[in-house]
Amino acid sequence: MLIHPIVADPVIDFAEDVCSGLCKPGQKELPSKYLYDEIGSRLFEVICALPEYGLTRADERLLRKHAREIVDRVRGEVVVAELGSGSGKKTRWILEALSRHRPTSYYPIEISATALAMCERELADIDAVSIVGCEREYLDGLLEVAARRLRGQRMLVLFLGSTIGNFDRPADVSFLREMRLILEPGDALLLGTDLEKPVLQLIDAYDDPLGVTAAFNLNLLTRINRELNADFNLARFEHVSRFNPDTRSVEMHLRSTRHQIVTLGKAGISVPILEDETIWTETSHKYSLNEVVSMSEEAGFRCDAQWIDHEWPFAENLLIAE
Ligand code: AVI
Repeated sequence: MLIHPIVADPVIDFAEDVCSGLCKPGQKELPSKYLYDEIGSRLFEVICALPEYGLTRADERLLRKHAREIVDRVRGEVVVAELGSGSGKKTRWILEALSRHRPTSYYPIEISATALAMCERELADIDAVSIVGCEREYLDGLLEVAARRLRGQRMLVLFLGSTIGNFDRPADVSFLREMRLILEPGDALLLGTDLEKPVLQLIDAYDDPLGVTAAFNLNLLTRINRELNADFNLARFEHVSRFNPDTRSVEMHLRSTRHQIVTLGKAGISVPILEDETIWTETSHKYSLNEVVSMSEEAGFRCDAQWIDHEWPFAENLLIAE
């Protein structure tokens, strides 16, 4: 089953975001959510399997190992909503642990219809789980699921894979706060956060020697060319991953290798880009354990438990809405 998108015109939103990001005075930027078109989503699946990028494996190890303990901390009949389910592979452990003793409804929330279809296929064999895909932005989807829950049901929201780290600080806390407003006291949020680690290891994770992350980043320009009738020449841009010690984030940029002018046909604008100027496409914040506790409290949650992977420092945090 599928909850359909609220159809505005996604291309108009995309054009507006791209124009304002490229015409911004100072640092040019593009929102990272646009990295995930069909090719971008597939490239991201490959990134997750790269030896240099240990994040997804750490997330999955923790869920596999501690699923029972995690779900035992959430009492009663549970409705599971997952923000950005992707293929749904990691979620299997939680759904299997939950559905062993109680019927479970699972709502993957995704803007990508392709990912929702993948997720439904991946998890269809778990008997006691009913899956309803929700093709919406995260908070719209969560509102929709909250409206459908029955009296007495608890909500368990999954926000895995450290996607929270892709929000600029303090937008991550604001986002948690907005989520909290949709939930009721006692509802739970399982939040995956990538932890601080040596800078060289981080740079490698976001600039792998095979060039998959570079392709993932450059694909955003291909998407703009295709959907907004633009003329980015990919050979004139280079993928850059750098660590920003002030924000403790890995940043992905696209560096222009020469002075050039790019035209966006659909938006009717031309944008000059200087040699060495960069377009900032993603931030990936790395957290400390205490920071997760304090940002959760700031947002109206209590941190009930944290499970840590030491092979690739990563934490699964169970937050309870106060
Ligand atoms: C989805 N997100 C948590 C990934 C990250 O690590 O920030 C996206 C990614 N970008 C480059 N590699 C992976």
